[in-house]
Amino acid sequence: MRIGVLTSGGDCPGLNAVIRSVVHRAVVDHGDEVIGFRDGWKGLLECDYLKLDLDAVGGILARGGTILGSSRVQPSHLRDGVDRARGHVEELGLDAIIPIGGEGTLKAARLLSDSGLPIVGVPKTIDNDIAVTDVTFGFDTAVGVATDALDRLKTTAESHQRVLVVEVMGRHTGWIALHSGMAAGAHAIVVPERPFDIEELATRVGERFEAGKRFAIVVAAEGAKPRPGTMEFDEGGKDVYGHERFAGIARQLSIELEERLGKEARPVILGHVQRGGTPTAYDRVLATRFGWHAVEAVHRGEFGRMTALRGTDIVMVSLAEAVETLKTVPADRYAEAECVL
Ligand code: F6P
Repeated sequence: MRIGVLTSGGDCPGLNAVIRSVVHRAVVDHGDEVIGFRDGWKGLLECDYLKLDLDAVGGILARGGTILGSSRVQPSHLRDGVDRARGHVEELGLDAIIPIGGEGTLKAARLLSDSGLPIVGVPKTIDNDIAVTDVTFGFDTAVGVATDALDRLKTTAESHQRVLVVEVMGRHTGWIALHSGMAAGAHAIVVPERPFDIEELATRVGERFEAGKRFAIVVAAEGAKPRPGTMEFDEGGKDVYGHERFAGIARQLSIELEERLGKEARPVILGHVQRGGTPTAYDRVLATRFGWHAVEAVHRGEFGRMTALRGTDIVMVSLAEAVETLKTVPADRYAEAECVL
């Protein structure tokens, strides 16, 4: 068989582990040929690819980023390019394409699959917001990075009696905020799923100082929003990919908290540091298992489907189901964290 692989959308630790796993399983065990499209769907649309043999994937298991490169493609561009993509698949004699990506990539995968292309998807995102899989690889690494940062920020916040408002990634969901905040013992967490009340947040942080504590750490998911009418809020609009542009919730919250509490409050934006670098052992294992199972699905002809983790098993689910909804944090998980507003 001849298989094409690509990585699309925001990168994520573990992408290279999937690529390596696909090549090992396909080339070594099945005698397949594998090619990798450069920079995501763009590579398929422009027929820009490289051969992926064992040498090409040597030493990449622990490497962050993606050796194939990634990019975002506007949905309209992809819709217009379906015939071109099909033409390239035929020209290259491909029996299957394995796109590795998050929400946007999987929607594109579904579109191409519905148009008849043989697709087996692999989900990825540090945000952990793909509904049909218990976890996505990259999440564990991102939570580890954010937790380490929060631990470090606590010591400097305490020295200077400051409130530090730490912004973590999480466009639609608060998984990273919740897990890193719980792991580091944050004093308040705000998430996109539960619009917050600034007065409640200020009271919570204020009570901490009144109780004699000398600092506070607030974790804010980048997509967190105030309850309508409770705080002036700068909506950033949308970018060309239809993604919300965030105006900096940590900066806005620190101004509001400083005003209300009379304590120095500073924003810290962790940003892309959460996406870079070496994947954790957990993410490498999950990514490797996803790659292995994706190749098996290709050989079974199970197209239009995607790998997913359910309990300890890797299962295949339909791409249609995968892109239906996002996995938001359930309310009982917030209750367990105590400090989510
Ligand atoms: O989708 C994953 C994610 O990390 C989001 O949490 C974040 O908002 C986004 O990617 C940032 O993407 P970009 O690198 O394109 O700015």
